[in-house]
Amino acid sequence: MADPAGALRADLLSDTLTRPTPGMRTAMAQAEVGDDVFGEDPTLRALEERVADLLGHEAALFTPSGSMANQLGVRLHVRPGEELVGDSLAHVVRAELGAAAVLSGISSRTWVAEQGRFRSADAEALMITGVGPYQVCTGLVVVENTHNFGGGTVQSLDEIRRARAVTRERGVAMHLDGARLFNASVASGVSVRDYAAEFDTVSVCLSKGLGAPVGSVLVGSADAMAESRIWRKRFGGGMRQAGILAAAGLFALDHHVERLADDHARARRAAEALAQAVPGTVDPQTVETNIVIADVSVSGWTAPQFVEAALLRGVRTYAVGPRAVRLVWHLDVDDTATDAAIDVITDLAETGPVLP
Ligand SMILES: Cc1ncc(COP(=O)(O)O)c(C=O)c1O
Repeated sequence: MADPAGALRADLLSDTLTRPTPGMRTAMAQAEVGDDVFGEDPTLRALEERVADLLGHEAALFTPSGSMANQLGVRLHVRPGEELVGDSLAHVVRAELGAAAVLSGISSRTWVAEQGRFRSADAEALMITGVGPYQVCTGLVVVENTHNFGGGTVQSLDEIRRARAVTRERGVAMHLDGARLFNASVASGVSVRDYAAEFDTVSVCLSKGLGAPVGSVLVGSADAMAESRIWRKRFGGGMRQAGILAAAGLFALDHHVERLADDHARARRAAEALAQAVPGTVDPQTVETNIVIADVSVSGWTAPQFVEAALLRGVRTYAVGPRAVRLVWHLDVDDTATDAAIDVITDLAETGPVLP
């Protein structure tokens, strides 16, 4: 249910909901544009150069979505008939609707990770290389940072580096789904560049916490991005005067990175209030960024019931399982909205479902 009239008191459904700010809209309106399929959009070029430079890779490619950026990364590193490996809740595996299989003929195998936390040993145990024509070979390890369905989990650079050493030795590529990499960086103090250095390709989203309306960027080597440009067109992602969107992305990088800390603090405050109201619903220590996942079954709710009851009281949330409800903080949820959300969710958790 959309909320164009602003009737909701707090919309915690997703950080993809943000609407462009007035400053961002001005930047978009004033963007110099050209036809990007011909490589002639100066604002898009500027964005790609900026992101490549920020992440310390040779080149970058703008895409309409994070899913496309991920799937271009997958396509690059894995041949049809080979596999990627990742955790069982990874967006690439869970939420891209089988794109690796449908678009690229690639299978996926997964390990189970608590809160989506990446451990090199899980990847090492699963990947298979050098098995000739007898078994499926692993072409790629996918890591998600922060981890969405894990609850905004920030990945350990040490674990990533460990995996990098092993994958390098075994000739397996690594792709980072960095849809929320800036959240990870702001929370951990590790630069996006240091994270990105350990991967062959990295996708970052401008349209999540950073608040742009559309767009993601894939980075990698110049050759890899040249090849991805062809595949992007093949996937239907070649865009024309996309500089209007790139201008929003540049604005977001200028104005909306440091403020992610505010989202993290508000999410933590809500988690603390909820844990205090009903212990066991959430451990505030596990809330590392802008996402809270609460176990509402502790209060007798099913997740869909809780979501419906919260919505009736003006707070939109999302059921991520039969017992778990996800709450996401973003640019359009300020302190007042956070206070309103805390009132509603703590009250519902304390009261439990009222039986008719
Ligand atoms: C971790 C992660 N990766 C990738 C995506 C895909 O982004 P998009 O919705 O732009 O395709 C999302 C979307 O929520 C996500 O959470």
